[in-house]
Amino acid sequence: MTNKKNVLLCVTGGIAVFKAAALTSQLSQNGYTVKVMMTQSAMKFVTPLTFQTLSRNPVYHDTFDEKDPSGVAHIDLADWADLVVIAPATANVIGKTANGLADDMVSTTLLATTAPVLIAPAMNVHMYEHPAVKANMERLANYGYRFIEPGEGLLACGYVGKGRLAEPDEILAAIKQFFNEQSEQPLLGKQVIITAGPTREQVDPVRFFTNRSSGKMGYALAEAAQGFGAQVTLISGPTSLPEPFGINVIQVKSAEEMYNAVMKRYEYADLIIKSAAVADYRPKEVLAQKVKKKDSGLAIEMERTKDILQELGKCKTNQVLVGFAAETDQVETYALEKLERKNLDIIVANNVSEVGSGFEGDTNKVTIFGNDGTRIQSDLVSKKEIAMLVLNEAIRYIRKIGK
Ligand code: CTP
Repeated sequence: MTNKKNVLLCVTGGIAVFKAAALTSQLSQNGYTVKVMMTQSAMKFVTPLTFQTLSRNPVYHDTFDEKDPSGVAHIDLADWADLVVIAPATANVIGKTANGLADDMVSTTLLATTAPVLIAPAMNVHMYEHPAVKANMERLANYGYRFIEPGEGLLACGYVGKGRLAEPDEILAAIKQFFNEQSEQPLLGKQVIITAGPTREQVDPVRFFTNRSSGKMGYALAEAAQGFGAQVTLISGPTSLPEPFGINVIQVKSAEEMYNAVMKRYEYADLIIKSAAVADYRPKEVLAQKVKKKDSGLAIEMERTKDILQELGKCKTNQVLVGFAAETDQVETYALEKLERKNLDIIVANNVSEVGSGFEGDTNKVTIFGNDGTRIQSDLVSKKEIAMLVLNEAIRYIRKIGK
């Protein structure tokens, strides 16, 4: 293996700990760098020395036993791992992680890591079938944790049923499959910023100007980019969408807040997709008290907001920049004008007056224009499918500039 992968193996207490020793040996033989972390109960079955010898690395078990003053071990290990494997995983560690508890080194590290986590449960059949354990596993699965199913057979407790830790070679196969899938991720290691949703421009404490953007397009882009392996920061205006797991979501309200959030981060980004519907104008003055009605009309003086995309176009170095153009007429003319004026690589244009296209719905129909003259016309499809089309085009540009 040329690119050595770092596997953090968390061993929790159960008779199946001996299988974790075999797994450590197999991982080392297959070219992975393995570091082992144990709970106090795991150490009652097998000593750390076994794992130290098999992994050729120190074994960690005490959050407060800091050997290296230049770091904080559980955070360093959480960051070091390309993959965390919990094998065997007891009902206890599953329950703690599902509920955000951190009372020892393993559970603390599990909350601190952003690496993917594979869980290989091992427990008594009745524990495995307990509704609380099932609910905890379901919750973790929804958070994106993966499970390696336990086997059926005679358990150490004397019962026959499901709960036996998967065999070391099955766990190894799941680990290999995980890394294979990862190598097919074209945005692995890339920083992607996506803006989504509308902005709110305050008039007085109870009123604001906004628009019909639901944020669905931006959220679909963020999730698709994450699926391609990117580190995603989603800068979102107010929407009713749930925050996607594993994505760094920054909630903002006004165009000014969105501008600040983007400009603080753009420098480190490989790709920026501006799908937010940013207000072009805001009230010149935000009133401290609620405006009282009068018999006469009301005029509110508006001023321009900063055009975030145009600013990014001015200061971009080697970021790929993607903008959106929502138009009701002369779609191509306006979109191409924006592509050039804002110094973009790609512009995604849609005719928001067409049925099924544009704001609020789950579908869209777009034309993707590239600054190299390419033009991709989509059908009326789901926003998830549009997201894949946009990202595939952005990936082509990332490759073109040799990133
Ligand atoms: N945009 C931005 N900052 C703004 C306004 C828009 O970054 N203050 C971005 C949007 O996120 C989108 C693109 O610019 O990617 C839309 O371009 P824009 O020229 O603002 O389109 P419209 O708002 O439709 O404006 P126009 O009235 O010029 O059609």
